Amino acid sequence: MKFFIDTANLEQIKEAQALGVLDGVTTNPSLMAKEGITGADNILKHYVAICNIVDGDVSAEVIATDFEGMVKQGEELAALHPQIVVKLPMISDGIKACKYFFDKEIRTNVTLVFSAGQALLAAKAGATYVSPFIGRLDDISTDGLKLIEEIRLIYDNYGYETQILAASVRHVMHIMNCAQIGADVITAPLSAIEGLLKHPLTDSGLATFLADYNKGNK
Ligand code: E4P
Repeated sequence: MKFFIDTANLEQIKEAQALGVLDGVTTNPSLMAKEGITGADNILKHYVAICNIVDGDVSAEVIATDFEGMVKQGEELAALHPQIVVKLPMISDGIKACKYFFDKEIRTNVTLVFSAGQALLAAKAGATYVSPFIGRLDDISTDGLKLIEEIRLIYDNYGYETQILAASVRHVMHIMNCAQIGADVITAPLSAIEGLLKHPLTDSGLATFLADYNKGNK
């Protein structure tokens, strides 16, 4: 399973990269705004800065909602760096743009996916990644993980190569459940990734080992 970090914060991206388990980054306009990155030029420069930190794929989202606008912005984003994946919203023109980019061999991530039908369309249009938002479904009392299961089944039934990128991941159990279901990728905040490290028996066991070593080496 690939691990992506879901942030535009360069320090957090560096920390995850230093851990040695990072396979990529996802961003969105809200995450950019949270870091105070505004204006088209600054946003483009920030994408390049992110690509220079990580080795893997970096999703960069178009702002246009019409086909021509998405194609123009997507081509501009893809030309920034070979690691860029063009992120397109799950709307009619987004699916048309996805097919356009598939034919041009430009990689895409179809975002804001909330149903298996949407995920099926994205796969048929040749999306490289599809991003079902599990946390936001949980927020409205709908089982986000069930959606990952449904998409896994459909993609396996037909051998679609589109990778399931579980997004809106909020905590460790989301990551573990996605791993059991067989999501190809999770994108999560640093806190959720680092949460995988933690176990009280690891901490107490290590403290005992060190104390015993010190007793024998006085
Ligand atoms: C995915 O690419 C999105 O950036 C993200 O996972 C959204 O998560 P949120 O629901 O925590 O905003």
